[in-house]
Amino acid sequence: MFLANILNEPLCQPIKKNYEVWYKFMEENIEFWLPDSEWHTKTHCARVLLLALVIGHQKSLSDEEKDALAMAAMFHDSRRLDDGIDKGHGSRAAEYYKNYCAEHHLLFDEQTYYMIYYHDQDDALGVSEIVTSSSLTERGVLLYQIFKDADALDRFRLGPDGLNVIFLRTEEARQLVDFAKELLRKSSETNA
Ligand SMILES: [Fe+2]
Ligand SMILES: [Fe+2]
Repeated sequence: MFLANILNEPLCQPIKKNYEVWYKFMEENIEFWLPDSEWHTKTHCARVLLLALVIGHQKSLSDEEKDALAMAAMFHDSRRLDDGIDKGHGSRAAEYYKNYCAEHHLLFDEQTYYMIYYHDQDDALGVSEIVTSSSLTERGVLLYQIFKDADALDRFRLGPDGLNVIFLRTEEARQLVDFAKELLRKSSETNA
């Protein structure tokens, strides 16, 4: 199991089971357009999954909300065409998620759709789209912010200066900067 060497740490214990179930689901079901990607691999998505679940647990989210975060983490970079900014990969991945739910009779979650769709856009745009959508509430904004922080915390894979921590949105994520670096180190010692 990828990241098995960190799952027994106290921070991960409460979400270990969730992570294991979702990681297996991603491995078996989600198809990535850029399998040879250097920066946007399944291992990136697995670390984002773990980080999102940790923040979600610390924020006392419901099980449904944690599942919504997990789905966003697994799908968000699955429809990249290149490793650059590739604006639009969020909307492509959101469509993939939507179609996947329809084809597999999975419950479609609109919060997940919005998180994926706008994760590659400015916060201001993402937040305004979420608050003006008819079905989502400020919980949707909170999920979007948690998701973007989890994705951002894995930017240390780009280099030691890959993340400017002042742009993090939640206090929980700011407290997880050292953990994110450790996670990255440990992930190179474990099998994907
Ligand atoms: Fe992305
Ligand atoms: Fe990402």
